[in-house]
Amino acid sequence: MEELVLVKNKIKEFVVECDDAKSLELLDKLATGKMLRSKLILKIAGESHESIKLCAIVEMIHAASLLHDDVIDEAHTRRGSPSVNALYDNKTSIMFGDILYSKAFTELTQMDKQIAYTVSSAVTKLSIGEMLDVDLTNTFNTSYDKYFDMIYKKTASLIEASAKAAALLCGKDEDKYALYGKNLGLAFQMVDDILDITQDSKTLGKPAMLDFVEGKVTIPYLLLHERVEDKSKLESLYKKQLTEEESIWIKEQMTNTKALEDSILQAKKIGNEAIDAVKDEENSEILTFIMKAMIEREF
Ligand code: FPP
Ligand code: MG
Repeated sequence: MEELVLVKNKIKEFVVECDDAKSLELLDKLATGKMLRSKLILKIAGESHESIKLCAIVEMIHAASLLHDDVIDEAHTRRGSPSVNALYDNKTSIMFGDILYSKAFTELTQMDKQIAYTVSSAVTKLSIGEMLDVDLTNTFNTSYDKYFDMIYKKTASLIEASAKAAALLCGKDEDKYALYGKNLGLAFQMVDDILDITQDSKTLGKPAMLDFVEGKVTIPYLLLHERVEDKSKLESLYKKQLTEEESIWIKEQMTNTKALEDSILQAKKIGNEAIDAVKDEENSEILTFIMKAMIEREF
């Protein structure tokens, strides 16, 4: 997608406007991700000066949240490259995150009021979602409601806001697109949580099987906990550095109990609800394609 180059250029332009050499140096260190939010905005609103600006704003907010998240999670890799906290330090990662998201907000104030409200309020949800995520790692969570509330806020809220803001930009039905974005975002995070178990670290660009070690009881683990015979064994492995043998045991149980298979089915079901929301729209085919590609991705 050539428009993504325009988005990257716009981000650079915004950072140049910050008039700070160190910020530009740091921007260079950020590995580009999948740019799912930008792809979504561009597929909904088409390419225009305003849509490219909206993409850049959303990507900068997303990048800022990841700069903070890597400090919170003590992660040393991001998108297969060393994270900024690893290359520099925690302070730099937090401060550069602050620069990116405040500049994004400055640009947001120059956009349509409803768009600015939609995106900025999603960032509050995103921040609350991160806090919920951290709090949920204190003890073994067995509540589906808490898991879904957390992934909605942490991940789906900004994707929902991106789709809604794009619809507002081009006069489409914003409620339909918001629902599409919300369900796409929920399915996206569920797939992320599944890939943590099924993929190796080389493919993921970060360590594999890490969620459970970090205290995150994601959808496959919720289902596994409900179904596994030796619950106390599973509980004893929670937040523990896993041996090869323990890792294999978890994966075997995931297969035997169909916890993994059913997690994939649940993600697909929510993905289909996303498609359903926009089935009568003229671009429904491409929105279906985005959803399917997202479900079938490998990292
Ligand atoms: C990644 O989750 C984290 C997020 C999607 C959101 C993080 C949000 C904040 C830190 C709030 C601050 C917001 C701003 C704008 C500064 P993950 O750890 O599950 O995924 P990962 O494996 O990719 O790290
Ligand atoms: Mg993280």
